[in-house]
Amino acid sequence: MSKKIPVIIDCDPGHDDALALMWALSAPDKLDVRGVTTVAGNQTLEKVTRNALKMLTVCGRTDIPLAVGAAGPVCRPNREVGAPIVHGESGLDGPQLPEPACEPVKMSALELLIKLLSESEEELTLVVLGAHTNVACLFTARPDLKEKIERIYMMGGGTMGNWTPAAEFNIWFDPESARTVFNSGVPITMAGLDATQKAYVTREENELLRAQGGKASVLAAELIDYFSRYHYKIEGFPGCTLHDPSAIAALLVPEVFGSENCRVDVETSGELTSGMTVIDRINYIGKIMGREVNCNAEVLFTVDREAFVREFLAAMKRLDALV
Ligand code: BDR
Ligand code: CA
Repeated sequence: MSKKIPVIIDCDPGHDDALALMWALSAPDKLDVRGVTTVAGNQTLEKVTRNALKMLTVCGRTDIPLAVGAAGPVCRPNREVGAPIVHGESGLDGPQLPEPACEPVKMSALELLIKLLSESEEELTLVVLGAHTNVACLFTARPDLKEKIERIYMMGGGTMGNWTPAAEFNIWFDPESARTVFNSGVPITMAGLDATQKAYVTREENELLRAQGGKASVLAAELIDYFSRYHYKIEGFPGCTLHDPSAIAALLVPEVFGSENCRVDVETSGELTSGMTVIDRINYIGKIMGREVNCNAEVLFTVDREAFVREFLAAMKRLDALV
């Protein structure tokens, strides 16, 4: 039997964060979710925390410690929080969800991250589904704990934007923290827009998901009903893009993606490009600038969409049997 992967999930639910949590919790034989931390982004810290607690409740995993993280970017105290055009006023508009049956632990996200990492005998994997504020705070406070992190799987960035023409929302929200994380030396798998915008569920596939009939499958379909409105109306996509679930898929079913190792950095000051991930896909730094290149990220560029959707539906079916 292969060893379970111990993970901590940092998130800002958010419909796709919620779907990512469901996917992660559908595989207790493969993933050992040691903790969940929240960060402001899709909505205020209070709202995303409440949403995360609701998702742990729905998934029957109120045993997992959840800690409250950063209320906004440290370097951008005036950053407006929330993406109600995408996720609604609650951050998780649409489906009826139960009241949380659990509370956050009485320590901050930073304290929980430090505790879990320092107490663990093995390296842990971090999954980062929102802005990088909590992780950057960790690296600033306890740089020694980087070596306890096996790899970071993150959703964010890409060669195009979705919040500005150049920047993806999570990186745009707190570019300074993202820059700290990309330059931390910790191995990164980046599920950016190049892959996640191809990882979509069509209307027909969402009906197949709903028809699976269990509590988890129906809830996932309802989350997609709401989340897809933005993708259809504003972005004009052929389906609902599953951004954050792609980071979980990269961990559980990496074979559905095509990736390249690249040097990635983050623009923090550009008038038009703040929050853009600068991906040196063909090694200009080495070939033209003559500098030694440290490929700091495995960047996902392609996805076998049908295999991805099959895996997602199978995960929701597994969760149906657990909740
Ligand atoms: C990312 O931004 C948020 O709206 C989503 O939850 C996802 O993490 C997509 O750009
Ligand atoms: Ca998110």
